[in-house]
Amino acid sequence: MKNSPPNYDKNHPKSICRLFSSIATNYDRANSVLSWQMHRRWNSYLVDSVVEASRPQVMLDLCCGTGDIAFNYLSRVQGSKNAPAKVYMLDFCQEMLDCAKAKSTSLQLAAFDLEYMRADAHVIPLPDQSVDCVTMAYGIRNVRDPLQCAKEVRRVLRPGGSFGILELTRPVNPLLRLGHQLYLKTLLPVLGRLVTSNQDAYQYLCQSIHTFIPPAELEGILQAGGFCQTWRKSLTGGIATVLCGRK
Ligand SMILES: C[S@@+](CC[C@H](N)C(=O)[O-])C[C@H]1O[C@@H](n2cnc3c(N)ncnc32)[C@H](O)[C@@H]1O
Repeated sequence: MKNSPPNYDKNHPKSICRLFSSIATNYDRANSVLSWQMHRRWNSYLVDSVVEASRPQVMLDLCCGTGDIAFNYLSRVQGSKNAPAKVYMLDFCQEMLDCAKAKSTSLQLAAFDLEYMRADAHVIPLPDQSVDCVTMAYGIRNVRDPLQCAKEVRRVLRPGGSFGILELTRPVNPLLRLGHQLYLKTLLPVLGRLVTSNQDAYQYLCQSIHTFIPPAELEGILQAGGFCQTWRKSLTGGIATVLCGRK
């Protein structure tokens, strides 16, 4: 009997968790193929402009997945006086956390004080004002309530702390937007299936990029969540955007 396609919907967080569980072991390879390696530059931009700039003692990588953002920073500051004393890695998908743990060992970063937390980004299990910098890459468009999430991040940040978001967005230029839309609707799900054997997952991910709010609105959510000095920078013609706010 043919299985009916799984139904992924961010209003049902368990389905999103199931999606990421199903692609966890292939996630890094799929990312490299599907973004044509561009995600490396975008990740580095987030780390340069937000994390490196704030030199956190305590850092939280929200929706950390396989850990690329935190590990990008830790690889840079390893052995230096800027190395953070504590790094929290939060994700609600255990399989992604397991991949992150394995990667920290292979990158020889396990000596850092890394704490893996299986939790929902809407309810962060950390005390008020306990973190200097929070990053969230490719996570905000998958959460049910981005405003609630921004408020929760603000709660755990110390005054002056930064929240940096990196998200896949849609280009503004009409030609680029059309090409991007075609890529998302046609090629990406097929490539996703070839790399992860789960075409439905990549169909959902494409749709989530397509239907997510534009960057200006997301910046408005940061402000509504109590962040000040907000800014945003579009990357690669707007295919990705970095946003930042301070508490
Ligand atoms: C597209 S991946 C991004 C992973 C990583 N940040 C990166 O740079 O590759 C999104 C991650 O967010 C996690 N996630 C989605 N919604 C979440 C939520 N409400 N709470 C915690 N984690 C969530 C997923 O399990 C997944 O690992």
